[in-house]
Amino acid sequence: MEVLEAIGKRRSIRFYKSWKNVEDWKIQIILQAARYASCQGNCNSTEAIVIDKATYPKKKWNEIVGCVSAFNELHLQTAPKLVVWLTNLDGWYKDLVKSFAVLFPLRAISAAQGWTYKLLTETTYPRLMSFPKDKTEDLFRIEAGQAMAQSMLAATELGLGTCLIATGRNPEAFPKVLGLPENVIPLWAMTVGYPLEDPDQRPRKRFDRLFHSNQYGKPLKEDKDTRSLLKDLGMIMDPNPIDEREAELRNICKSLGLTEDMPDMPKEKIKELYKKDSPYYGELPKDLIKKGV
Ligand SMILES: Cc1cc2nc3c(=O)[nH]c(=O)nc-3n(C[C@H](O)[C@H](O)[C@H](O)COP(=O)(O)O)c2cc1C
Repeated sequence: MEVLEAIGKRRSIRFYKSWKNVEDWKIQIILQAARYASCQGNCNSTEAIVIDKATYPKKKWNEIVGCVSAFNELHLQTAPKLVVWLTNLDGWYKDLVKSFAVLFPLRAISAAQGWTYKLLTETTYPRLMSFPKDKTEDLFRIEAGQAMAQSMLAATELGLGTCLIATGRNPEAFPKVLGLPENVIPLWAMTVGYPLEDPDQRPRKRFDRLFHSNQYGKPLKEDKDTRSLLKDLGMIMDPNPIDEREAELRNICKSLGLTEDMPDMPKEKIKELYKKDSPYYGELPKDLIKKGV
């Protein structure tokens, strides 16, 4: 699978084939994809704990379930694996000079670009070490986001589904449940498994609402030919009829013993999404407007 197609095929998956575990080699690939993500100063501060539901102690698993946000509990019922993404602040305060310096002998950065070992150790490093922890954590969250995104694309290529899940119900308890040292901060958890559902690509805001040309507020127009090329390459997908998705959800719910009722979003609220001033104008399938989904 090419990367553009993987971007198009990736979905947040919330129902998994609970009976089918994920092969260890696939988990290895997902982690390697994260390890090779770009990171500031070559820090490599993103770490993870891979939790295998089948072998993890039940009591501890239940403690994790108690930490994830309530709307995420259901994902954990069917996901065979949970990857908890972490960031290690030692990557900054203890290791940065080494992880940056390793680039010098490899000539990955050079004096011609303005980088010298002397500048790093005498000027840059002391400045970076003066950053307060919350600033470093912010920087590391960006690095971790890149690592997670790469791992999710790798998972897609391997036929796996993933979903990032928040652990906001009990943020104080979560590091303790995981037994983390103080310098290691849990960021987000990610379910991994074989998808039981096959949802459509989720709508995005219009291109020209997100991207600006030369100055903020001057829309950068979406190029129709490029969009059409991306459809051919599988990165942008046309939606399927909504009835198919509804049937899929009903059947999954039935098989898992969950309620089949779909909550109704008021039709007027759906109509608003189709108005010209909506950021989704022109982006949504036509048949949605008939529904209260
Ligand atoms: C940082 C981040 C946190 C997220 N947290 C949750 C979450 O707690 N629960 C959940 O069901 N989905 C979560 N998601 C998934 C989004 O809701 C999802 O990306 C969105 O519905 C669009 O669907 P897609 O990922 O299939 O394109 C998260 C996504 C990101 C990037």
